[in-house]
Amino acid sequence: MSGEAGYRPGPRPVRYGASPEERQFYESLVAEHGSPLLVVRRSRIEAQYRLLQRQLPGVALYYAIKALPHASVIETLAALGCHFDVASEGELELLRPLRISGRRTIHTHPVKKPEHIKAALRGGSTTFVVDNLEEMNKLLPFRHRIGVLLRVSFRGDSVAVDLSRKFGCAPEQVPELARAATAQGIHIRGLSFHVGSQSARPDSHVAAVEQCASLIAAVNADNDNPMSTLDIGGGFPVDYDGQGLDADRWFRPLREALQRLPEDLSVIAEPGRFLVAPAVTAIATVTGRARRGDCQWYYLDDGVYGSYSGQLFDHMRYPLQVFNDDPQRQPSVLAGPTCDSIDIIAEDVPMPELGEGDLVIGHMMGAYTAATSTRFNSLNAARIITID
Ligand SMILES: Cc1ncc(COP(=O)(O)O)c(C=O)c1O
Repeated sequence: MSGEAGYRPGPRPVRYGASPEERQFYESLVAEHGSPLLVVRRSRIEAQYRLLQRQLPGVALYYAIKALPHASVIETLAALGCHFDVASEGELELLRPLRISGRRTIHTHPVKKPEHIKAALRGGSTTFVVDNLEEMNKLLPFRHRIGVLLRVSFRGDSVAVDLSRKFGCAPEQVPELARAATAQGIHIRGLSFHVGSQSARPDSHVAAVEQCASLIAAVNADNDNPMSTLDIGGGFPVDYDGQGLDADRWFRPLREALQRLPEDLSVIAEPGRFLVAPAVTAIATVTGRARRGDCQWYYLDDGVYGSYSGQLFDHMRYPLQVFNDDPQRQPSVLAGPTCDSIDIIAEDVPMPELGEGDLVIGHMMGAYTAATSTRFNSLNAARIITID
């Protein structure tokens, strides 16, 4: 995912020390399941889902499976009544063994091969996102069975991951595209946008909601088959920096903007990061040490080709924890297990003495971590276990 120049991650929080119970908890998980591990807490997914429901009342939530495409996450959210945003046949396939109907999905990838559309329809997905006429034409043969959302691009300057460069039509193209769709017998059910992921401020969401409301009103004034849905995407932020992100403060302006929308407009959202990031903890083990110049190097069994891949692709820095709380610390490097020199989790981070076998804990590691990890050097990905 591509970064946005206006966003800078804050300093990485590191916690030194752990209560005996906490330490025992992590050590016993490694004793039972091995290392590296990603530990999914169902209760935290549930808490995030309920928090988002409270912050955005009346908004139907579609979990963006791409953030963490894991059965236990999908199952947990399905049981809470969540719907799903799928962007590929593979994501839709994940629902089948869990007996979750494709009717609970929207297909949000704006660019599709015709066979993707057929597979999605076979899987039960009937709502598709497009952003131009050529993609709309691909939907023509199926127009009587589907609903279409038109994705609009709104670029924000406060997002970590810009999702409006690659996708979305310009707002001024909406009336013309809506007219072209009507002429072809395709019903545009509504508009969708994604202002970008990990949005530091709600301003871009608010501005996009307001612009979409005007566009929908303008199109509907001239159309017998009005638009009835607004999809506000994802982008809702989580607290990687440990600065105490105040959810109520972030969501209030967005909630107020949604309250100003016409009552007959349904609003949906596609949250990924917000639902899963805080629910997953990574456990890695120190496998080797080396003194290089003034720096102490620790080699771990997980790194940026693995669970920490989000540091490269998603531009995030995850809070770390080690159990040793010795105040004597020296500049250290935490490196991953592959042979590549880019595989470094943290550089120049003050660390107490760590020994082989010590654990390094990564917090807030649910979103775009396991999802983008690779098998470079033929190393196994961290095992994912679910607790609670
Ligand atoms: C179309 C779409 N919807 C939803 C999401 C989820 O966004 P977030 O994780 O920021 O909530 C993404 C992320 O890439 C996306 O591309």
